[in-house]
Amino acid sequence: QPQVHYRGDELYVEDVRLADLAREHGTPLFVYSKASMLAALAAYQRGFAGRKAKVCYAMKANSSLAILQLFARAGCGFDIVSGGELERVLAAGVPAGEIIFSGVGKTRREMRRALEVGIRCFNVESEAELEVLSAVAVEMGKRAPVSLRVNPDVDPKTHPYISTGLKGNKFGIAHKDALLAYQRAAQLPGLQVVGIDCHIGSQITFMSPYLDAMDRILDLVDSVERAGIRLHHIDFGGGLGINYTGEQPPAADALWQQLLAKLDARGYGDRELMIEPGRSLVGNAGLCVTEVLYLKPGEQKNFCIVDAAMNDLPRPAMYEAFHAIVPLARNEVKPATFDVVGPVCESGDWIGRDRKLSVEPGEFLAVLSAGAYCMSMASNYNARGRPAELLVDGSQVHMIREREDVADQMRKEKLLP
Ligand code: LLP
Repeated sequence: QPQVHYRGDELYVEDVRLADLAREHGTPLFVYSKASMLAALAAYQRGFAGRKAKVCYAMKANSSLAILQLFARAGCGFDIVSGGELERVLAAGVPAGEIIFSGVGKTRREMRRALEVGIRCFNVESEAELEVLSAVAVEMGKRAPVSLRVNPDVDPKTHPYISTGLKGNKFGIAHKDALLAYQRAAQLPGLQVVGIDCHIGSQITFMSPYLDAMDRILDLVDSVERAGIRLHHIDFGGGLGINYTGEQPPAADALWQQLLAKLDARGYGDRELMIEPGRSLVGNAGLCVTEVLYLKPGEQKNFCIVDAAMNDLPRPAMYEAFHAIVPLARNEVKPATFDVVGPVCESGDWIGRDRKLSVEPGEFLAVLSAGAYCMSMASNYNARGRPAELLVDGSQVHMIREREDVADQMRKEKLLP
């Protein structure tokens, strides 16, 4: 990630020295690089050059308003999964026609609101949802544009918690049931079939699952269209992985070169394409700065206790995920091996295990690849306020979210009479 680099012994994001930000704004602190996000988006845009295609940023990865604004200005649409995400993306100034709505459990209220503002498409995940969405639309005198999310049943070879395209999980409509579901959708008075959708998982680092999924989806496009139902767009979901610890996922443009070749070969090169990338647009554009509070040597392990915790960075605790941890200032301290842990009262509150670090209390560390699924999954556990967020643009620094204080946390609560 060229935007995150050392100058001499000090870590920078673009042209800004991180130690200065840590001193000015306190820690834990998320810092993002605008150039890095735009570079990640550009890789997809290069891949789609000359095509009718829409990158719909999966905002669950990082739903901070300024980041939504950034992607909207760069021409993105948005993939949402809740009424809350809908209101956030509207608040960022995004037109409803740029929004697609995924998720297995849309409520009637969420459907009504999305129909009222006029979103681009609902990605419907079950036969039952088709019936409900049609009924809600009829009540409102509207027709809901729909794609069916089909489960291509390919193994994305990723962590089981984030693999979504296999038979045994809750997402999508089974491949073998999809044609019938399409025929039903075409009959329902409140629906307008517009496309097909799939999403096979997250942090995918190989090309082959995508290529297999494309074949499976295009087989289905064949049979749905043979049944007289026209599919105007093909939404291929998100899931492309990033480098956390030496993974080498395919580049977005190289992947799409191969996928587009398949589309063309099967005669579907004219269809509008949509994708829903999240992590690959923001993951490596962000990091979390944290201060070393204490070093605690032990018989079996040495602990490096920092001021960031599982509430700020939940991925290690939830998925045993690896995030690189590096110093803000390289120094001459003798390195030792530590478990990097937070102040939360749980053994699961760790950020890195068995890391070789040269650290002393009072120094700062950066937890890398923290742009995706960190702040958006942060909580207030242990009554910890969520961190501040900064967006760096060259030598400019934009405060995009202030640190949460206790008043923010208690705002909705009521004491007993
Ligand atoms: N589309 C749908 C329907 C999804 O469910 C997801 C992610 C995406 C797009 C975006 O996938 P991405 O490009 O970011 O891989 N919290 C986990 C990841 C959960 C992913 C859930 N779905 C983590 O921290 O690894």
